[in-house]
Amino acid sequence: MTSVVVIGGTGLIGSKVVERLVEHGHEAIAASPKSGVNTLTGEGLAEVLAGAQVVVDVSNSPSFEDKAALEFFTTSTGNLLAADTRAGVGHHVALSVVGTERLPESGYLRAKLAQEQLIRESGIPYSIVHATQFFEFVSSIADAATDGDTVRLSPALIQPIAADAVASTVARTAVGEPINGTIEIAGPEQFGLDELIRKGLSFRGDPRAVVADPRARYYGALLEERTLLPSADARILDPRFDDWLVQTAPQR
Ligand SMILES: NC(=O)c1ccc[n+]([C@@H]2O[C@H](COP(=O)([O-])OP(=O)(O)OC[C@H]3O[C@@H](n4cnc5c(N)ncnc54)[C@H](OP(=O)(O)O)[C@@H]3O)[C@@H](O)[C@H]2O)c1
Repeated sequence: MTSVVVIGGTGLIGSKVVERLVEHGHEAIAASPKSGVNTLTGEGLAEVLAGAQVVVDVSNSPSFEDKAALEFFTTSTGNLLAADTRAGVGHHVALSVVGTERLPESGYLRAKLAQEQLIRESGIPYSIVHATQFFEFVSSIADAATDGDTVRLSPALIQPIAADAVASTVARTAVGEPINGTIEIAGPEQFGLDELIRKGLSFRGDPRAVVADPRARYYGALLEERTLLPSADARILDPRFDDWLVQTAPQR
């Protein structure tokens, strides 16, 4: 049995990681501001990390605005790594995004890259999981690109993945040996970004029109055709997007 603290354990990925760990007989503590643990202020960190063998960081910045995201990921990661060291944590696992290093125009991804650099330089054994965009993120992508009734998106390729598959990989990584490097995971299919969002919105009866525009920015960044795609050695994980849409549709 491994003792794991999941920072951001109440979030989309974090709550699933806690479930997976417990299902497999490990001890998992969900830590977040709601449970009195705040990585920005340091509140509750020493207490929750006492006795932990592994820390999983799947927290997220409440704001995606450039400065706020950078402040969140640098301050919270710095506090967390210092607390890991004091508590003698033997493995730090973090979730980041495929292509962080290729999208310097995006403030959010610059912040994720800064988080990764702090982890690499910390001296703590670590594993970083790079995932592509979650299926669950489709409505947020649409909302961020909406002007009136129109959603304007690049037709660049994207290979999204289900949050369940991401959480299973993060949980398995947490109870494995630190890799002191990065693994990449992605879903089984590629779509144009505009095509993916059109499919997702239309399945849910959302009337917004999705327009393909190669100059449309994705969270501040212009995309080349393959910028968001994983490398050839990424692990490919089911389900397919159409199957996921059906599985997660509200029952009537
Ligand atoms: N969205 C994507 O497509 C995608 C793709 C690849 C990687 N990722 C990465 O996946 C990670 C998890 O994303 P998610 O969608 O699961 O996040 P989420 O659902 O928004 O959950 C965020 C979590 O962070 C916690 N949190 C916020 N402020 C905190 C603080 N000051 N101290 C400690 N915890 C704090 C929240 O706690 P409360 O509930 O208490 O507020 C919550 O548990 C992120 O790091 C993101 O970069 C996302």
